[in-house]
Amino acid sequence: MKRYMPEPYRIKSVEPLKILSRKEREEAIKRAGYNTFLLRSKEVYIDLLTDSGTNAMSDNQWAGLMLGDEAYAGSESFFHLEEAVRDVFGFHYVVPTHQGRGAENLLSQILIKPGNYIPSNMYFTTTRAHMELNGGIFVDVIIDEAHDPTRSDVLFKGNVDLDKYEALINKVGAEKIPYICVAVTVNMAGGQPVSMENLKQVYELSKKHGIRVIFDATRCVENAYFIKSREKGYEDRTIKEILREMFSYADGCTMSGKKDCIVNIGGFLALNDEELYRKACSLVVVYEGMPTYGGMSGRDMEAMARGIYEALDYNYIKHRVEQVRYLGEQLAEAGIPIVQPIGGHAVFIDARRFLSHLVQDQLPAQALAAAIYVDSGVRTMERGIVSAGRDKDGKNRYPKLELVRLTIPRRVYTYAHLDYVADSIISLYQNKNAITGLKWVYEPPVLRFFTSRFEPI
Ligand code: F0G
Repeated sequence: MKRYMPEPYRIKSVEPLKILSRKEREEAIKRAGYNTFLLRSKEVYIDLLTDSGTNAMSDNQWAGLMLGDEAYAGSESFFHLEEAVRDVFGFHYVVPTHQGRGAENLLSQILIKPGNYIPSNMYFTTTRAHMELNGGIFVDVIIDEAHDPTRSDVLFKGNVDLDKYEALINKVGAEKIPYICVAVTVNMAGGQPVSMENLKQVYELSKKHGIRVIFDATRCVENAYFIKSREKGYEDRTIKEILREMFSYADGCTMSGKKDCIVNIGGFLALNDEELYRKACSLVVVYEGMPTYGGMSGRDMEAMARGIYEALDYNYIKHRVEQVRYLGEQLAEAGIPIVQPIGGHAVFIDARRFLSHLVQDQLPAQALAAAIYVDSGVRTMERGIVSAGRDKDGKNRYPKLELVRLTIPRRVYTYAHLDYVADSIISLYQNKNAITGLKWVYEPPVLRFFTSRFEPI
């Protein structure tokens, strides 16, 4: 019998789930153009599309909603949020935004000039889109092993390759690099963490050349958990102590609160540099709102301030990451190819190997996500050629990783739900040869994965 850690919470409010018949699911995915983003939520049984904004808030956070201060200017809830960010992340200036990409927009506009280079440990879709919209050139400087789903021996697969980074500095010159973006953890690599040692080395190299270090802090608590459980010398440190040290190696961060701040909406840009903060404030009023609410309501800032502290609880984060591992291990034990090691927020199925009879142009990950939905009502997400988009010249990018992401929302599903997911995918794997590829019917110009439509070949 499988053993697992009991949920470190009990359930006070429930949301009933329904599953459609197989025939209804077949109709639904056809109507959605074989794109799981275009399904309606009521057509989904277990929703593993994303861990973004899908969190269950605590009773304490819901209570905070009632106490939210909705003043247009100088909201008390803003000051609670600012205090929490100063205390946990160590940055002095905080600009709230409606979500992570709002902060990415501000940062990219302030720092990037056309022709600049922005190195990063692999890309994230919206982060790279903002860099490119501002004329920046994204350069992937993650270690090679991150592109190999079989390298289970590499415990910090999100690490920056210092040689690649230094080679870029030598090639283009530090003055052309406004900042390095370091994601903790790396979503597109499979939720892989960055080690403290690497963060420190990246910071030292950057400072030597006068380059800013900006973290994409979206899943930083999961990263801290991996440091605590995998990196020598951190076993006895608290999650908060680890976070403080991590962020001491950065000049600022963008944050999607919809992940590790355990809320449904919100984000922020945090900085130490006063001049940059002033510039961010003059932009935030144009794009989001007054600097004391940005894109958020008072109640949402209150819930986020509380979520930041709840996420520091060791039992919370241990249960969260261990749930993901539990699902991943069941799939791996049944021989299903997944990205190893299992990451912090999701299990990533290697669609190239799952559907080895398809070539990448037949969109194996998109086809597999659609097939999983039809088979079980479980909604997952493509993270492969469709998500990677086209380059400047209009050519398709061919990412090495062609993945389907099973993303676990925080505090939402139980181990029994995960057993259902695992059993369904294991039985689908036994009939994998019946799954056919897909072809495009409609493709939008940017962030195409959200609204593209397909049909079976
Ligand atoms: N950075 C990372 C690493 C992310 O995963 C996301 C969002 C963002 C930035 C942007 O934040 O959505 O609040 O604007 N990831 C979601 C996902 C959408 O499903 O992985 P946002």
